[in-house]
Amino acid sequence: MRVLGIETSCDETGVAVYDSERGLIGDLLHSQVELHAEYGGVVPELASRDHVRKLVPLIRQLLDSSGLAPDTLDGIAYTAGPGLVGALLVGASVGRSLAWSLGIPAVAVHHMEGHLLAPLLESPAPEFPFVALLVSGGHTQLVEVTGVGRYRLLGESLDDAAGEAFDKTAKLLGLGYPGGPALAQLARRGDPGRFRFPRPMTDRPGLDFSFSGLKTFALNTLQTGLAEAAADPEGEARLKADIARAFEDAVVDTLAIKCRRAIRQTGIPTLVLAGGVSANRRLRQRIDDIMAAEGGQAFYPRPAFCTDNGAMIAYAGWQRLRAGQRQPPAFGASPRWSLEELPPV
Ligand code: KG4
Ligand code: ZN
Repeated sequence: MRVLGIETSCDETGVAVYDSERGLIGDLLHSQVELHAEYGGVVPELASRDHVRKLVPLIRQLLDSSGLAPDTLDGIAYTAGPGLVGALLVGASVGRSLAWSLGIPAVAVHHMEGHLLAPLLESPAPEFPFVALLVSGGHTQLVEVTGVGRYRLLGESLDDAAGEAFDKTAKLLGLGYPGGPALAQLARRGDPGRFRFPRPMTDRPGLDFSFSGLKTFALNTLQTGLAEAAADPEGEARLKADIARAFEDAVVDTLAIKCRRAIRQTGIPTLVLAGGVSANRRLRQRIDDIMAAEGGQAFYPRPAFCTDNGAMIAYAGWQRLRAGQRQPPAFGASPRWSLEELPPV
């Protein structure tokens, strides 16, 4: 079975074809980063309009470059939520109507299920059951996964998502948008011994997270430091790098502590990381160390599939289409949508 995947939930237009015999045949991504950069964040209306402009040409380019005729597709999967409703509706309307015109089934995919299953595109792939840490710009969740669509939420962020905290802290350090990767890069030059930020909610039981306080901590540290380093550009640059390092250390440490707790609590020694923040090198290193000490193993998507992409949607869609799930000709989008509402496969 050959499935076209379409991702338009936020600021990337992603398309890919997954073939159950051959694996991933092709994938293309158009990033809107430059479009939104001057506003310091995603402007929803601009995102929708850009998806409208780019999606159909990108699908054409994908099929042409992979040497695939449209009539060799067996199904179409599109992200139907959670995300920006206007952006989602672009992928939903194109995906659903293209499937109708080709006379093939379509399926609506949950964006976070796409992230969660992305590591299954790699080799070796993790086997069920596993614990998943989903860390993206909009979500931070620990999920017990016993099969496709069999998800139990173990814990989640009560305020900012980990990626959101990275982005907001990067912004106050003057790093632009999206700030996560830039902050991680700056942190490499930082002195780990200068500041110690709190590890929120690790001193009490439970698997929930709270990251909004770290951003405030970073702001206060910056303001105090700037007052002390007044008119010393070198001192200011060092201060920002040291704050970036302390912030990254705190997020990585907090996520790692909760992952270890989830592994021990569930007795499942397999951990899967997914979502944009799972591209973070220091997080991967720390998680690998923890899983080695626990006698378990961690799995990740390749870096390009940590952030939003069409491949994970094609793959998640294939899992549901092959089980006979279908989206009727009427379609919609769900800006808010819980993973636990998904039907098992
Ligand atoms: O999964 P994703 O592409 O989009 C959402 O579904 O939200 O995740 C994007 C998030 C952004 O907040 C971005 O700053 C963060 O992932 N991110 C990173 C890194 N790469 C991307 N955060 C920390 N370190 C990175 N290397
Ligand atoms: Zn995402």
